[in-house]
Amino acid sequence: QAADDYQQMEHAAKFFAHQLRRHANAPKVIDYLKGRGLSGEVVKAFQIGYAPDGWDDLLKTLGKGQGSRDQLVDLKLVNRNDNGRYYDFFRDRVMFPIRDRRGRVVGFGGRILEGDGPKYLNSPETRVFHKGRELYGFYEVKQAHRQIEQIVIVEGYMDVVALAQAGIDFAVASLGTATTTDQLQMLFRATRKVVCCYDGDRAGRDAAWRALENALPLLTDGLELSFLFLPDGEDPDSLVRQEGAEAFTARLAQAQSFTSYFFSHLSEQLDLASDSGRAALLNQAKPLIERIASDYYREALLAELARLLRREVSQVAAQVRQAKATT
Ligand code: CTP
Ligand code: MN
Ligand code: MN
Ligand code: MN
Ligand code: MN
Repeated sequence: QAADDYQQMEHAAKFFAHQLRRHANAPKVIDYLKGRGLSGEVVKAFQIGYAPDGWDDLLKTLGKGQGSRDQLVDLKLVNRNDNGRYYDFFRDRVMFPIRDRRGRVVGFGGRILEGDGPKYLNSPETRVFHKGRELYGFYEVKQAHRQIEQIVIVEGYMDVVALAQAGIDFAVASLGTATTTDQLQMLFRATRKVVCCYDGDRAGRDAAWRALENALPLLTDGLELSFLFLPDGEDPDSLVRQEGAEAFTARLAQAQSFTSYFFSHLSEQLDLASDSGRAALLNQAKPLIERIASDYYREALLAELARLLRREVSQVAAQVRQAKATT
């Protein structure tokens, strides 16, 4: 069954890609993709496709016979309404196939072209798709590089694809959710250096802090996590198209270090010139530092914490250990 599921998902990806060449709406979709700066080559590399605007184009092609129809329902490519009618889940959308680390298609993201409705529809969880464990573009990055120097995590499909279009072919997207510990673990197995680069808005900044928290138990000596914050209103796609690859690469090289972001975030609302501000920083930092796996990072954070608190490192370290013993 499982092998067959992957085959059916692959067939669906091929079907959507084919529509981009054959469907009557293909010219409008190609215009859209061109308008977003994408070349045919990149569209092909990511196997971007089009889900037709009919009700059951995919169903009619891949769902012949009850067995394959039910399988499409299980794979959430087809829905059944209350009247027992079956129809395609993705309609009139640009389709991004999501591959697992072995290259198997496990889900899709579908972007609306224009008009009403949610901007993106994503495959719900299925037998083969577990959202928090996949990373859009990860397989493609692994294909492009024998040795991966660094990986950039971004929010969206278009960010990954636009960066690849600019030659920055080492970006992955965490599929709209906060980047999970599982996803970070996958990345740190493939590379030593990960840069988080979320959108320049509230949601993006919140996602960065959650990624930092999720990385605490994973960061071991030699691994590097940094953070690139974008100007307000920009995302990697808009910025790389505006500034070009060189400027974006320069920004990546200057991403904020884990330690620097850790303390700038925690002390954002605090006055470290006051005793109460410094006490609050110690209280907030303690439980986070405890969760750090590596001696190297724990010591680096303790040293910086001591500097900010104007105390001896040994004294601060003792207090953090004490906190650990009582929890
Ligand atoms: N997302 C989603 N559903 C939505 C909006 C967003 O699943 N209704 C996910 C998608 O994976 C999307 C990512 O969150 O790629 C980032 O969202 P957002 O920044 O809003 O979209 P962009 O990727 O910037 O989309 P675009 O550039 O195509 O407008
Ligand atoms: Mn490369
Ligand atoms: Mn966003
Ligand atoms: Mn965005
Ligand atoms: Mn965008």
